[in-house]
Amino acid sequence: MEKTLVLIKPDGVQRGLMGEIIGRFERRGLKLVGMKFMQMSRELAETHYGIHRERPFFGSLVEYIISAPIVAMAWEGNNAIAAARATIGATKPVDAAPGSIRGDFGMEIGRNLVHGSDSVENGVNEVNLFFRPEELVGWARATEAWIVE
Ligand code: RTP
Ligand code: MG
Repeated sequence: MEKTLVLIKPDGVQRGLMGEIIGRFERRGLKLVGMKFMQMSRELAETHYGIHRERPFFGSLVEYIISAPIVAMAWEGNNAIAAARATIGATKPVDAAPGSIRGDFGMEIGRNLVHGSDSVENGVNEVNLFFRPEELVGWARATEAWIVE
């Protein structure tokens, strides 16, 4: 089953949007299999965003993501990557569709509230970066048949 790592970034936590953001994934029908409230270390931030290491915004991106606590979540489902990315919205909040998290709550790319894995492979790698195997919870959702045909 496809898994995606979703982070509520420091602005989402500081602005009191944790419940709002979690609720959107929950209502969509994704299944929560891991969650932790944490402050990211610089080392974890540099690993997580390592693909952007050479980009001019890398330094400010790392400072932003370690500046306050975050919520790390693993969500599971058919097409979990695409579903979560659509729920999150475009990287630049001004381009994000109304109804998406970034489109409803964001103004700037450097304060775009949420992270979501961008491929199946990165979903696996990012979930494993943030969660040990025993921290992931396999469970039977009572409403499964009303969400998945
Ligand atoms: P994310 O990884 O956080 O889910 O965001 P994304 O896939 O939509 O965008 P990505 O290209 O992976 O960029 C990662 C994060 O870097 C910051 N960024 N700043 N100033 C800039 O030009 C710039 N470009 C990207 C954003 O916080 C973006 O979410
Ligand atoms: Mg990305």
